[in-house]
Amino acid sequence: MKRRKFLQTLLTILGSTAFVSFAYPLLRFLAPPSGEAKTKKLILGKGEVPIGAAKDIVFNDVPAIIINRPGRGLIAFSRVCTHLGCLVEYEKDKNRLLCPCHAGVYDLEGNVVSGPPPQPLPKLPLRVEGENIVIG
Ligand code: FES
Repeated sequence: MKRRKFLQTLLTILGSTAFVSFAYPLLRFLAPPSGEAKTKKLILGKGEVPIGAAKDIVFNDVPAIIINRPGRGLIAFSRVCTHLGCLVEYEKDKNRLLCPCHAGVYDLEGNVVSGPPPQPLPKLPLRVEGENIVIG
């Protein structure tokens, strides 16, 4: 009987730890701690993201990516997977974003193609001003 109770307690502790380790990054993304960071803008030179290339950035404390899609132009997303918060990776040769944790796949519009993610990747406001890319 004591052994069963010990195992139940151990499983509860391990389960709680696993839940918190996945939920915390997602909650940080959904509810950033300070509103001040949301007002920032990020400016890069257009030459930093040539056609077909991507650049990882951090915007408002959130890992993000800018992709210069051939024929479709620039787009920026959060890199935080909408499933459990892992960081997606750009796969240039396959024209997609892959989440390495559970094989979630997003297209270059941020839409879910396959896997467990429940929602598209959040897009970041992006505009081109002269020779600059302005995020925010
Ligand atoms: S965390 Fe990205 S697919 Fe699960």
